Amino acid sequence: MVTIIETRNVWKTYGIDTPRRVDAVRDASIKIERSKVTAIGGPSGSGKTTLLSIIGLLIRPTQGQVVIESIEVSRVSELYRTRLRRNKIGFIFQSQYLIPQLTSIENVALPLLCTNTSRSKAEEQARKILLEMGMEDRADFRVAELSGGEQQRVSIARALVRSPEILIADEPSSSIDKTLTHELLETIRSMVSEKGLTVIVASHDPIVLDWADIVMTMSDGEIISE
Ligand SMILES: Nc1ncnc2c1ncn2[C@@H]1O[C@H](COP(=O)(O)OP(=O)(O)O)[C@@H](O)[C@H]1O
Ligand SMILES: [Mg+2]
Repeated sequence: MVTIIETRNVWKTYGIDTPRRVDAVRDASIKIERSKVTAIGGPSGSGKTTLLSIIGLLIRPTQGQVVIESIEVSRVSELYRTRLRRNKIGFIFQSQYLIPQLTSIENVALPLLCTNTSRSKAEEQARKILLEMGMEDRADFRVAELSGGEQQRVSIARALVRSPEILIADEPSSSIDKTLTHELLETIRSMVSEKGLTVIVASHDPIVLDWADIVMTMSDGEIISE
């Protein structure tokens, strides 16, 4: 087993020194294995999104350490964390909507355009990943003209366009039906076996939990089982 990410005694407390203080993550020490799918289950409010946000370098823990490929990232500069996040991590978060008026290609190319890649180069790369997703004949359709499953694949393509080593997905099946869920999981699985992608997914969907290689469960901010 090769550990790609480790959290050591990580805590996240929101609203410290206020009456609304919440320990969203309590003393979480976990190891994420490279090129495997790790699912984090547990009821709503148990701290899954917060833990994913810490692992994905979106927020810093209140206490504890986060180690990604042997680098202790909880205390390094914001600039360094941003670079690491951009180079290594792709996200499928519920709040990251596609832009319906833009085409699939344009949506997928967006993260590259944010980093000084030329438009033609960005679109070339976007086209390549859409092809890998079996979406070549939908590349120039506007997202508004696509089915739910196709839109889902565009989101994955956008998360993967920079070839991240790690994919973090928060409740990826929450707004799609069972058939689309199976399709989505199959697409992600092929990226794991073909590219060695490491996947961390938060979900309370039994389909997703069954599909994962490793399942951890959270309850009231704590990892209660692995
Ligand atoms: N930005 C925030 N500010 C204050 N409290 C938060 C914030 N985000 C989450 N919480 C609280 O932290 C707890 C865990 O939330 P969350 O990580 O979203 O759990 P889950 O994803 O399992 O539903 C909840 O009690 C929630 O209300
Ligand atoms: Mg959540």
